[in-house]
Amino acid sequence: MKKEINGKTKIIGVIGKNIENSLSPLIHNQMIFKHSLNFCYLPFQVAETDLNKVIQGIKALNIRGVNITFPYKEKVVKFLDEVEESARRIGAVNTIVNNKGILTGYNTDVIGFKRSLQEDEEFVIKKKKAVIFGAGGAARGIIFALLEEEIEEICIFNRTLEKAKKIKQDFSPFFPESSIDVFPLEEENLKNKIERAHLLVNTTSLGMPPQIDNTPLPDEKLFHPNLLVYDLIYHPAKTLFLRQAEKSGAKIINGLPMLVYQGIESFYLWTGLKPEGKEVLEIIKRIA
Ligand code: ATR
Repeated sequence: MKKEINGKTKIIGVIGKNIENSLSPLIHNQMIFKHSLNFCYLPFQVAETDLNKVIQGIKALNIRGVNITFPYKEKVVKFLDEVEESARRIGAVNTIVNNKGILTGYNTDVIGFKRSLQEDEEFVIKKKKAVIFGAGGAARGIIFALLEEEIEEICIFNRTLEKAKKIKQDFSPFFPESSIDVFPLEEENLKNKIERAHLLVNTTSLGMPPQIDNTPLPDEKLFHPNLLVYDLIYHPAKTLFLRQAEKSGAKIINGLPMLVYQGIESFYLWTGLKPEGKEVLEIIKRIA
């Protein structure tokens, strides 16, 4: 079993703004260890002003690839040489692969999100109604996933309405069978939309350090037992949003399964190996 770092070690990692609490290094280094690969996964906390230089640095340092996380999933797209078809349509990238100096962007959040819903929750997306909080890079991936699985209706609530409108404008032409409505975050319609919804997803950073006392849905009376309430955040494991949802009798899921499944797809793009999802998830739940 290979444990040491040497002159042939290939570097992979994650680029984000606040990644002290990221579990991606733990997940990937576990998979590397299990498969005895000569790879090492590192955290790179970088400022937005350095993003272009950092992306060019992937080539200069011959890094094999990186994950991209909050809040750079959309911002990195313009610095890449190539963007895979669905990531280009989504407009957000969470994985970069460096092939002999050519940087290609992918979006593995889509498959990660689908697997977490379909395998872990046995949730059938087709013909359902969802309310999504947020309209950033993570939201774009999961909204695309829901549309691909023929959801009936998506209502996007976002602080900046323009960003939600842009998602509707970008995606609607490709998915004419599904309806997409957009609203500002403070909105009376929330009550009516949540009443009708089957799935409620937080893609905002409300609930993540340093905003742990925040929630996208301050009125906890709006949760109901027929909802599956999903928070993309996994640290803390139960945000205020999820705690309040659970009290109402709703089913809840945090962002850990999706993180593991999207990570496995990224790992495959860098190494050609695809570890078994449930097994990795169980290990991470035990040691994280
Ligand atoms: P990511 O790549 O993780 O999606 P992002 O693109 O920066 O990150 O998106 C962050 C999301 O959280 C956005 O929907 C953002 O709202 P805006 O589009 O208005 O910026 C939302 N968000 C972050 N902080 C927020 C806050 N304090 N109140 C409401 N929404 C917030």
